[in-house]
This record gives sequence, C-alpha cells and structure tokens, in this order.
Amino acid sequence: MNKKIKNICCIGAGYVGGPTMAVIAHKCIEITVNVVDSNKARIDAWNDNDLRKLPIYEPGLDKIISKTRNKNLFFSTNVEMNISKADLIFISVNTPTKTKGLGAGKASDLKWVELCTRQVAKFATGHTIIVEKSTLPVRTAKVIQEILFKAQDESSNTHNSKTFDVLSNPEFLAEGSAVHDLLEPDRVLIGGEDLEPIKILSGIYEHWIPKEKILQTNLWSSELAKLVANAFLAQRISSINSISALCENTGADIYQVSKAIGLDTRIGEKFLKAGPGFGGSCFKKDILNLVYLSEYFGLPEVSRYWEEVIKINEWQRKRIYRLIVKNLFGTISGKKIGILGFSFKADTNDTRESSAIQISIDLLNEGANLIIYDPKVSKQQVEFALGLESNENNDSIKNPSLEQCAYTSNIYDVFKSSDCVVIMTEWKAFSEINWDKAARDMRHPAWVFDSRGVANKKQVIESGLNFWQIGIG
Ligand SMILES: NC(=O)c1ccc[n+]([C@@H]2O[C@H](COP(=O)([O-])OP(=O)(O)OC[C@H]3O[C@@H](n4cnc5c(N)ncnc54)[C@H](O)[C@@H]3O)[C@@H](O)[C@H]2O)c1
Repeated sequence: MNKKIKNICCIGAGYVGGPTMAVIAHKCIEITVNVVDSNKARIDAWNDNDLRKLPIYEPGLDKIISKTRNKNLFFSTNVEMNISKADLIFISVNTPTKTKGLGAGKASDLKWVELCTRQVAKFATGHTIIVEKSTLPVRTAKVIQEILFKAQDESSNTHNSKTFDVLSNPEFLAEGSAVHDLLEPDRVLIGGEDLEPIKILSGIYEHWIPKEKILQTNLWSSELAKLVANAFLAQRISSINSISALCENTGADIYQVSKAIGLDTRIGEKFLKAGPGFGGSCFKKDILNLVYLSEYFGLPEVSRYWEEVIKINEWQRKRIYRLIVKNLFGTISGKKIGILGFSFKADTNDTRESSAIQISIDLLNEGANLIIYDPKVSKQQVEFALGLESNENNDSIKNPSLEQCAYTSNIYDVFKSSDCVVIMTEWKAFSEINWDKAARDMRHPAWVFDSRGVANKKQVIESGLNFWQIGIG
C-alpha cells in the first residue's frame, strides 16, 4: 500500500471539490492535486486568468487559487487520465434528490456517484484510496465497495492488478465561509474499516489541522453524521422561523428572544437568526434523505418528525409572500416589486433552493413585475432559477413570463417607481442603503419588507416608507 500520497484526483469541481482541493493543495505542497469535471465550461472558468471569473464566489478563494493553480493544483476535463495517476481519489460529485422512480422526491439520486465509481473501477491503477466527499445516504459505501471490489477481483492475477480502500470523509464547510471552514474546521470526520487508509487520509489533514480534531469512526457513523448535522442545523432555522411568526403576533422581538435563548450555553447562539427560510443545495435534500431512510427502515414517526422541518421552511416562504400581497392592499397585479438579493445567503453566488426563487415565483404568478438585484448572481442565473429560459431540472416551477422580470446590476435601479422592495439576502450592502434616496424614487405609499433583519429600521421609517421586519411585532 502507498504510505505517502503524491497524487490526488478529485472528481467534481463544484462548491465542495473546488475550494476543498484548493486548500489541500495550498497546505500540502508536495502533493499534486488534479480536480476533474465533465463540465467543460466549469473547468474553463476555474482556469480563467481573470480570477473574478472563477465559477464559485467564496471570500478568500481567489487568493488561494492564485498561489496554487498550475503549481500543484490543476483543473481538467481529463477524468480518465487523472484517475489512472491518482493514489487517492475524492468523489465530490452532486447527489441531488431523485426526481423519478423509487424514492422520487426524497431519496438521493446516486446516478453520478455510481457513474464515477465505475470510471474509477475501470481506470484506476495499483492501489487507490477512494474517499466519499459527497454527502451520501448511509450504506452508500457498500455500493461503492461492491463495484470496486468486483474490478479488484477481475484484475487480480493480471499484470494490471488493482486494489481499493473506501473511506467516508464528509465535508462540513458552509458556502460563504468555505475557505475559513476548511482552514479551521471544528472537526474532520473519517469513517472507514481499516486503520491504515484512515491514517493516510488523516496524514493529509494533519498538515494543518490538529490531530485531536480528526475524528475516526466506522463508515456508517460517518455517512449518517453528515446527514444528521445538516438536519440539526436546518431544524434550528425552522424552529426560530416558527417563533418569528409568534413574535410578530405577540409584540415580542425575535432578536431579543434569540439573544436570550442563545446565551444559554446548552442552546448556543448560532443558527438562531430568523429569515425567509433555509436554502442551499444541501439542507432540504439531506433531510429528505433522512426522511426516506427512516421510512425505509420502518420508522414513520422519525420520518414525520424530520419532514416537519421542511414543511415549516416552505410555510415561512408562503407567509412572507402572503404578507407582501396583504400589505399592498391585497393586489400586486401590475405593481413593481424590487428584490434585493437572490443568492440563498450572503457571500455566495449559489442560488440553489434559495427562498428568493419561490417567493419571486409566487409574486410573478400573482401578476407583479419584478426587478432583481444581487451583487454576485448573474442575470443568466436568475433567469435559469426562475424558469425564464428552458430548464429541464425546473419543470416543477410554473413559467412566469420574461417581460415580468427585469435584472439590474445597479442597486438603486431597484427602487425606481417600485411599490415595495423585499430584502431576501443578508448582503452587507443592504444595511448601508441610503433610504432617503431610495424613498424619493419609489411610488408611495411604499413598503420595505426586510426578511433578514438587516435594514436600518430608523432610517427606513424616517424616510417615510412603511416597514416590515421579520419577527418584530
Ligand atoms: N455545497 C455545499 O455547501 C456542500 C457542503 C457539504 C457537502 N456537500 C455535498 O458535496 C457534494 C457536491 O456538492 P457541490 O455543491 O460541490 O455540487 P456541484 O453540483 O457544485 O458540483 C458537482 C460537480 O460534479 C461534476 N460531476 C458529476 N458527475 C461527474 C463525473 N462522473 N465525472 C466528472 N464530473 C462529474 C458535475 O459536473 C459538477 O460540476 C454533494 O453531495 C453535496 O451534498 C455540499
């Protein structure tokens, strides 16, 4: 078995594969790291000389890429060749919720994981450690092992014999703080059956992470722990969002309630910020996975318990949409609404499952005209997410008309003749808006709906605008 890893291949150059491999390359200068992806446009963007064109926006990522790219970090579409050279392969491909067939709407679609495992089985040479980086349902490692061990058996006694170890090493980074999370993780989790490959993978992380933060478990605990971590985080958001509605009805203030409960060390202060509902590619799909697994293993009460976290999330989005309509005299048909922020949270350009999508669609379907601004999300991304262009993954969404929806790269365009603006993302710029200037351009009586609690309340009200802020009675 290889004692020292010299060549890493990561399959999947997405929000996880890109930043994670950049940090590994940065910290392990003796290792060559090849990040491969079948999406050529994405690889071209990773290789673009203009670092502003990297496919993923993460604070600090451009600096690390500029230090490592084409030194010991390479981005390529040549999946087969880079698999064959690797001592260790990270599988970091997408694992979305299945849209059809058995388990549709809940179970993860493992199509991409299976496909790339078959590529690994075919093209790997010698001994290779395979690491699940993608978030996977419990016991997926078994599927990966079965495919690889078959190839291992078939290759034994040939001059091209190959052997494999399979590890689980889920990623806990959060978009928007990925570089920080990778450099200073709370813990690294490695699940496996044999000590030797675990030690080798641990050795990579030990370049910059203290050994006591590297946790070793069996394969199944590692796979399940990742799903559970996301489910617990999402549960906190749904919990505080449910209380935000109660605050609005009782005169309590969600910020005061959050602070008061967060100071209890048994509860803790993180993930207690009320908002328009959680988004991102992971929380919903990972909870749905847990729901499916619980059903599959005959635990309907467990399944219903976790499903409720998603239902509250959907309810929170509908609640915000309804209160916008109600406050605009019960009709928004033909009215102009400004949307401030489209990414699912600040400091990322990721719009997957963003609450802004569903709320915008509901407003468009009610007949409103939208003008959308986000500092990092492009016009094409907005149109794709709203189904304003043909999009086979988005067929659940009713297509609103293109004429109803405008995009601007100038924040103050959003206010011109608008009846209201809705703050959807907690970008710092939205706490610095000049509300006097904004109010002058709006059609009165005009509203500001702040679903993130970032607007300067005093300034908004003094400028003559009506104001709703999440969780304030
Ligand atoms: N995004 C996050 O914040 C986050 C955090 C932790 C874990 N995860 C998990 O990590 C995994 C990846 O997530 P992501 O957000 O990076 O996904 P992503 O969609 O951004 O990237 C996945 C990439 O894999 C590529 N790919 C798929 N199959 C391939 C193949 N056979 N060969 C080559 N390339 C292939 C796709 O083209 C895509 O670019 C998922 O399982 C996700 O649940 C995501």
